[in-house]
Amino acid sequence: MSILDPFSELLSFFRSQRIVGLDIGSRYIKVIEIKDTSKGFQVERFGIMPIEPELIVDGSILDSLRVVDGLKALFQNTGIKTKNVTISVSGHSSVIIKRITLPEMTEDELTESIRFEAEQYIPFDIDDVNLDFHILGPTEEADQMEVLLVAVKKDKINEYVSVVQEADLTPAVVDVDAFALENAYEINYDIESEQNVALVNVGASRINLNILKSGVSVFTRDSSVGSNIQTEAIQKELGLTFEDAERLKHGETIEEVSEEDADAIIQNSSEDIINEISRSLDYFKGTFMHEDVHKVMLSGGCILIKGFQQRLAELTGMEVEMIDPFRNVRIGKTLDKDMLREVAPQLVIAMGLAVRRIGDR
Ligand SMILES: Nc1ncnc2c1ncn2[C@@H]1O[C@H](COP(=O)(O)OP(=O)(O)OP(=O)(O)O)[C@@H](O)[C@H]1O
Ligand SMILES: [Mg+2]
Repeated sequence: MSILDPFSELLSFFRSQRIVGLDIGSRYIKVIEIKDTSKGFQVERFGIMPIEPELIVDGSILDSLRVVDGLKALFQNTGIKTKNVTISVSGHSSVIIKRITLPEMTEDELTESIRFEAEQYIPFDIDDVNLDFHILGPTEEADQMEVLLVAVKKDKINEYVSVVQEADLTPAVVDVDAFALENAYEINYDIESEQNVALVNVGASRINLNILKSGVSVFTRDSSVGSNIQTEAIQKELGLTFEDAERLKHGETIEEVSEEDADAIIQNSSEDIINEISRSLDYFKGTFMHEDVHKVMLSGGCILIKGFQQRLAELTGMEVEMIDPFRNVRIGKTLDKDMLREVAPQLVIAMGLAVRRIGDR
């Protein structure tokens, strides 16, 4: 036996404990590997890659073979060797997150009875979902407690788990976008007590909203509206291809299209997205003890569109800030920092997934 054997075993043990955040979006797949150092988290490797818009539609993987190819290419390009990944799912037709009130009981007791307790709150067959919960604490009423209930459709989990496995990766943790967003925010920002902060991620095909009160999630909502509607509006009104429309969104110029025309279309369609965000915030205000939202923290590719953040602030009259997923995070020396900064808003969910640990629920 070589002396290297126990050592290499130890190394592979540590390597196997590492976990990579993998955000499979409908337009871009993102991946982040971090290292836990004595000075906090450090980004070791990252990558972002566009995929064709027809591969994942409305959160459903329509062409799994090409998504698998994309995943393999992304891991190859970034040089990430770690196989364990955390992925996430979202969408109101697959994920239900609810705060419910139950008689006080221990975590073990609730683990036993959760299926029975949850049944009345879940609009799907209870056998078709995976359940999880988090006891939030006692309510003002005696002998009652508040519980955060999470139900995710099994077929949605299986859909994403299979592509990950087919790409020779191990899905070690399956999370929910809204919670990954919250995780990424928490590692970078201090809790503001008595403040309601709305975390809003605007991707290509959906908006994930998670409102935190004093740092605790009190309201989540996914809408199936996203930055694709700006792309579609440009395509329709200017008769352009998807690729050209995307180039316009990125601020590039296209022959025979005036900047003013493009800007006007983008502004108009942005308002549909902003209205959707406003509606969700109003719904929260109307249902959650009539409390105001004090601040909006934004992420997702849509906020890279010139003027979007400002327009949102104007139309909602709220303070709007971009989430910096690397505010409290060190960046590995060899990484392209400019590129990382440029795509940072798109990496927020991947960062929230990268800080999860194996064995996390
Ligand atoms: N630099 C940029 N300028 C303008 N728009 C951009 C830029 N980068 C990305 N986008 C837009 O952002 C969207 C992609 O954002 P993101 O990567 O957050 O989506 P996704 O995670 O793939 O989608 P989803 O989570 O909704 O399935 C696309 O509609 C794209 O046009
Ligand atoms: Mg996304």
